[in-house]
Amino acid sequence: MQILRFAQNDRFVNSPERLSRILRGGTNPLAVSGTNMRTEELLQLERKYCSFGDTVHYLEPPKVFVDCEGSYLYDEHGTPYLDLQMWYSAASFGYKNRRLGEALKRQVDRLPQLACQYLHAEKVEVAARIAQYCEKRFGVKGRVQFNVGGSQAIEDSLKLVRNYTGKSLMFAFMGGYHGRTLGASAITSSYRYRRRYGHFGDRAQFVFYPYCFRCIYGLKPETCNLYCEDQFAHLFDNEYHGVWDARAQSAEYGAFYIEAVQGTGGYVIPPRSYFQRLKETCDRRKILIVDDEIQMGFYRTGKFWAIENFGITPDIIVFGKALTNGLNPISGIWAREELITPELFPPGSTHSTFSSNTLGTAVALETLKMLEEEDYEKLVNEKGAYFLAGLKDLQSRFPGIIGNVDGLGLALRIEVCKEDGLTPDRDLVDRIFAEGLKGDLEVAGRKYGLVLDVGGYYKNVFTLAPSFTITREETDLALELLAQLFRRCRA
Ligand SMILES: Cc1ncc(COP(=O)(O)O)c(C=O)c1O
Repeated sequence: MQILRFAQNDRFVNSPERLSRILRGGTNPLAVSGTNMRTEELLQLERKYCSFGDTVHYLEPPKVFVDCEGSYLYDEHGTPYLDLQMWYSAASFGYKNRRLGEALKRQVDRLPQLACQYLHAEKVEVAARIAQYCEKRFGVKGRVQFNVGGSQAIEDSLKLVRNYTGKSLMFAFMGGYHGRTLGASAITSSYRYRRRYGHFGDRAQFVFYPYCFRCIYGLKPETCNLYCEDQFAHLFDNEYHGVWDARAQSAEYGAFYIEAVQGTGGYVIPPRSYFQRLKETCDRRKILIVDDEIQMGFYRTGKFWAIENFGITPDIIVFGKALTNGLNPISGIWAREELITPELFPPGSTHSTFSSNTLGTAVALETLKMLEEEDYEKLVNEKGAYFLAGLKDLQSRFPGIIGNVDGLGLALRIEVCKEDGLTPDRDLVDRIFAEGLKGDLEVAGRKYGLVLDVGGYYKNVFTLAPSFTITREETDLALELLAQLFRRCRA
């Protein structure tokens, strides 16, 4: 019933107006946006001239889209694909968000270019707003340094830690993801990302994350008393556990890199008290906490920073993605004054040509104003609760196969298993992922596709990051499309 209501209410998603707008891209009715090239031709050229080194060929053949709006991507036939991942949470505020798009256009007309060595107002305002937010929230003064992508901001944070502590080794979590530059790869757990690139002398020491659905110790969160954190703390019992010099009272490690909710690791949500314990252990050993908010920051989990759900103050926060809603990316770090004071981190300590570009900072400023004006905590938590209730219902309809669902705000997960409810079923996930992108699902007589992203330690988790603009009707549609995919693919 809800789906029917959705179909009737929604006049634009699949409408002739939209279709004709999409097809305006060229004279050829199958033109792929602006280039006047057929999908087939495009794929042939891509095979010949594009490197396969990125993630495009995770799907064969790769998928081409020509338009986007709100929660939807559109293929060249005008078929809407409901996107439940929103560019890995970079486009959290909806595709073609009007307010943010207008901010970008205004800056294109006013100050579209400026070397980052000179100042412009938006850069300073964005830095000030982020630092003021952190000061209000954590009671700690700090400064902001910008860069372009998430990985580069991680690199900057590594510089800060090395500079301040004199140490180049870090702790990081198994299942953690911090990017694919060499420095970020060294603290990212997956060996697959490092294997072909030689020796990483600064490889992090990886620690078990509190992934309670698959507790490595076979314990239950209700009764474990955070046993996994205890195991970490025991590393510092004596020098022979390899990380601590008791005489010098010094650890070999400068910082612990955390994601409050693991992103690529499968939207794993730890017990609420976990990070307080971890912080106490790290504080005792003078190990900094670097909080990677690149995927979960800016309200994905219902709080401005995901770490606010867990009651600790990090020493450094790294951000990116949603700050510009995927328009003209900028990323950055916020750090406690002591770590980033100009005496310690003087001019030239880091730089990138495009680091605080005028277009990105203009959008970022508009994003921050928007976050101040609307109650995103309420909005995201309400929408997330509705979606999660739907996922729990879906789980009850596919017992075992959906081994676990969970969510914090609009960061939601579906862990897909064999009938026993635990053995990861990667094949089923791959089939569902590919079927969703065929665009031939049908609801109320209309064709749809579903865009999903796959994560998790066993690549058996759908990590859902829907747009914050998602409506109840669209959520109902998402649940219906998911149910169809599970039915179709489990055979
Ligand atoms: C938690 C986290 N850290 C770092 C990165 C790397 O960011 P980027 O891909 O912009 O380099 C990502 C990207 O997905 C991420 O999710």
